[in-house]
Amino acid sequence: MSEGLFLTLEGIDGAGKSSHLDAMEALLKAQGRTVVRTREPGGTPLAETLRGLILEQPMDPLTESLLVFAARRDHVTQIIEPALARGDVVLCDRFTDATFAYQGSGRGFDAQVLSTLEQWVQGRADTAADAARLLQPHITLWFDLAPEIAAQRLAGARLPDKFESQPVEFFRRVAAGYAARAAADAQRFVRIDASQTRDQVWQQVEAALVARGALAPATGVTR
Ligand code: TMP
Repeated sequence: MSEGLFLTLEGIDGAGKSSHLDAMEALLKAQGRTVVRTREPGGTPLAETLRGLILEQPMDPLTESLLVFAARRDHVTQIIEPALARGDVVLCDRFTDATFAYQGSGRGFDAQVLSTLEQWVQGRADTAADAARLLQPHITLWFDLAPEIAAQRLAGARLPDKFESQPVEFFRRVAAGYAARAAADAQRFVRIDASQTRDQVWQQVEAALVARGALAPATGVTR
């Protein structure tokens, strides 16, 4: 059985990451991988219920962080870990980097508390040697876009949720949070310049997956 691969997509709202999921899934499947496509908050019935609350209800940052991590716990145990154990590719729209970016940088919530929750939810304490290890994505594609451009792209697209209706200053902080996460873990993060055209962005995505060994080169699959 080949090893599971945990791939995540991140970026501020309006950065365009989700529009590349279909093509990524098709490409990975064309190379013989079984793909579990999922998202956060969400991915299980319970976590999708919590998503509705997180995205629509006003709440303080601690409550928001607890609900995000509660949804993640269910998602990790029910979907992500079993899929990785089977050797599948988990293609996940957002994961814990979003919590550090949105709740941590955006809302200004205590990153130490987030790290503690992360350890509780993603800690792998099966053996003593494993105690310090965290479940983390193998590759994170970070769609980096200026908040002003993202806001223009979002304007009028659909009824904004609680986060999408935040002012541009909020997204400046979220973007800075992503930049800090990427700088701290350059091995895992790949920066995608999301200001380019959709096709150019796709070419960056494909090249990044090839460079990181997630895809064989020159597949010939078009979108
Ligand atoms: P989506 O629109 O990309 O599906 O993401 C849902 C929203 O939830 C998005 O505005 C970011 C936010 N979010 C958090 O605030 N914290 C998190 O941990 C996650 C996963 C998402």
